[in-house]
Amino acid sequence: MKPVITIDGPAGAGKSTVSKALAARLKFVYLDTGALYRALAYKALKSKIDVNNPDELGQLCLTTDVILKNMNGTMTVFVDGEDVGDKIRTEEVGLAASTLSTFPAVREKLLDLQRDAGARGGIVAEGRDMGSIVFPDAEIKIYLDADVGERIRRRHEELVQKNRPATLSDITRDMQARDHQDSQRKIAPLVAAPGAIIIDSTSLDVSQVVEKILEHISGVND
Ligand code: DC
Repeated sequence: MKPVITIDGPAGAGKSTVSKALAARLKFVYLDTGALYRALAYKALKSKIDVNNPDELGQLCLTTDVILKNMNGTMTVFVDGEDVGDKIRTEEVGLAASTLSTFPAVREKLLDLQRDAGARGGIVAEGRDMGSIVFPDAEIKIYLDADVGERIRRRHEELVQKNRPATLSDITRDMQARDHQDSQRKIAPLVAAPGAIIIDSTSLDVSQVVEKILEHISGVND
């Protein structure tokens, strides 16, 4: 069976670009698990559900159909039949996803979906708890980090490119809130999983990070 590769790390460390490029290089499936939390957050915001209220979130989990479909090698999220696409890529949805992801009912709802997607191997799965909780037996675990200043700069650049400019101070505030929430929560906090290879991408570009990961993979296969 082809391996499972997990890539965890904080917001803005470059996980998505690196994971997509790596999956394309290896012809593996790409799974962005943040998209699952974002999809639920998107529906919560749309339905005016309080993402801090466990009862409302429990109800949301019971009444929402979330599935993953492999579309040309990318696992795509459908919520109640809708491909939520780019609508979940806003700072507002990201922050709401970070908040609702601290609740056990939400994590439980999404766990099997993620594990099923990786059951046949040949997958690059990115998120916060890929190596620690979802795929603890993954053959290759990466923890991708970068200085907070660099992560803020990258997020700013990304938003400008998408024509959704935000001020550096807003991005800094949101990034700090997310870092705190994602790493301090009780269940499945962001950690470097045991055995994870830690890569600091502060002064590396995407292809350099991908090359570093590929070196480790060939080391595992030798
Ligand atoms: O990777 P992202 O920024 O799209 O993720 C959005 C939020 O979802 C993140 O701040 C925390 C949550 N998340 C999580 O709790 N576990 C994951 N495996 C992935 C994301």
